[in-house]
Amino acid sequence: MKLLVIGCGGVAQVAIKKCCQVDETFSEILIASRTVKKCEDLIAKIKDKTAASLSAAKVNADNKEELVALIDSFKPAAVLNVALPYQDLTIMDACLECGVHYIDTANYECEDTENPEWRKIYEKRVKEKGFTAYFDYSWQWAYNDKFKKAGLCALLGTGFDPGVTQVFCAYAQKHYFDTIETIDILDCNGGDHGYPFATNFNPEINLREVSANGSYWENGKWIETKPLEIKREYDFDGVGKKDMYLLHHEEIESLAKNIKGVKRIRFFMTFGQSYIQHMNCLGNVGMLSTAPVEFEGKEIVPIQFLKALLPDPATLGARTKGKTNIGCIFTGYKDGKKKTLYIYNICDHQECYREVGSQAISYTTGVPAMIGAMLVVKGIWNKAGVYNCEEFDPDPYMEALNKYGLPWVAVENPVLVD
Ligand SMILES: NC(=O)c1ccc[n+]([C@@H]2O[C@H](COP(=O)([O-])OP(=O)(O)OC[C@H]3O[C@@H](n4cnc5c(N)ncnc54)[C@H](OP(=O)(O)O)[C@@H]3O)[C@@H](O)[C@H]2O)c1
Repeated sequence: MKLLVIGCGGVAQVAIKKCCQVDETFSEILIASRTVKKCEDLIAKIKDKTAASLSAAKVNADNKEELVALIDSFKPAAVLNVALPYQDLTIMDACLECGVHYIDTANYECEDTENPEWRKIYEKRVKEKGFTAYFDYSWQWAYNDKFKKAGLCALLGTGFDPGVTQVFCAYAQKHYFDTIETIDILDCNGGDHGYPFATNFNPEINLREVSANGSYWENGKWIETKPLEIKREYDFDGVGKKDMYLLHHEEIESLAKNIKGVKRIRFFMTFGQSYIQHMNCLGNVGMLSTAPVEFEGKEIVPIQFLKALLPDPATLGARTKGKTNIGCIFTGYKDGKKKTLYIYNICDHQECYREVGSQAISYTTGVPAMIGAMLVVKGIWNKAGVYNCEEFDPDPYMEALNKYGLPWVAVENPVLVD
């Protein structure tokens, strides 16, 4: 089957290499991105290792007409969007126009948060929902009727978190609980790349997420915190003790809607002191701003300039050592008895590097992106409409995680987070 992959950064390169390992399903892959040279260089490196036929194209995914022309000429079964969240809506529009399925790993975010039209909708949403994050699912969920009518599937957020974490929730619900009361999603990166400061995926998206207010869902409403206000320590299997901080994260929104009866959902991510100090300092001097400033007669966006200075996440693989541990802790009831469970995956940065030449953050996102695309094109996870990962049968996905490099464990009676 034909797959069009959009983007050729850290996550895309892993997703493409994993698709090439599954060449009995993905027989033809077109890699299209803004910088076509990255696509060509990747193809030169991997073409002899796969039976899939690979080609490259240049596309500006902010431009629907360009996307439509590309999709129409290639006629893929699906489009895997591993560019940036800014492009989600134009790619979804193009998929609808061309009649192909859509898959991504991150929910829509508006690049220009000063845009007055976007701001009006954003401010209304902040009042209605009570969280101030720039991203939320309302934009993409609004496409549900259009995808339903077209008989097409849009699978949203099939990375690790969002993505696998929601499949863990659906699996816990299906096999372990009658009612899930609380979910704590814990994302621990115990890896060290040796730089004083670098981000493991796109710096702009990463720093916008971490420097924003935190929030969690409790008893039917959002509770917002100051950035990094809530801190806990947890002893992670395979990694050891780490400080972790409560963040707003997109899957909380869809899990609150889809896991019936859940009372509280929180998301924690680990950070070292050096990362936090650098981020705070950069924020204090205005380097995280997305608003353009004039510099020597030219407009520059501070956070984009910062991205140009920071190490490219796609190059961190060789130097990153250590492990990630990402998973979900559940509390709830089964057959009238209280029950607790922890489902998680441990991933080793250096093993990822040996297999696909990348660090574990790109790996833990790229593998699920491939799995989501594979389940959609094979018709195993394919319903007309717009769906999040917890809305499908988790079993084939959980099986694929074990098969394609992200084995998981389910442990009863874990240490809980207070
Ligand atoms: N769910 C998860 O667990 C998870 C975890 C990490 C990341 N993610 C998501 O994964 C996605 C990719 O992250 P990454 O770290 O791989 O980012 P990245 O390294 O910056 O790669 C982004 C790629 O998209 C291309 N691109 C950007 N704008 C484009 C446009 N207008 N038209 C065409 N191509 C464009 C870039 O082209 P250039 O090469 O020209 O820059 C680059 O190849 C992001 O959406 C991120 O939020 C999800």
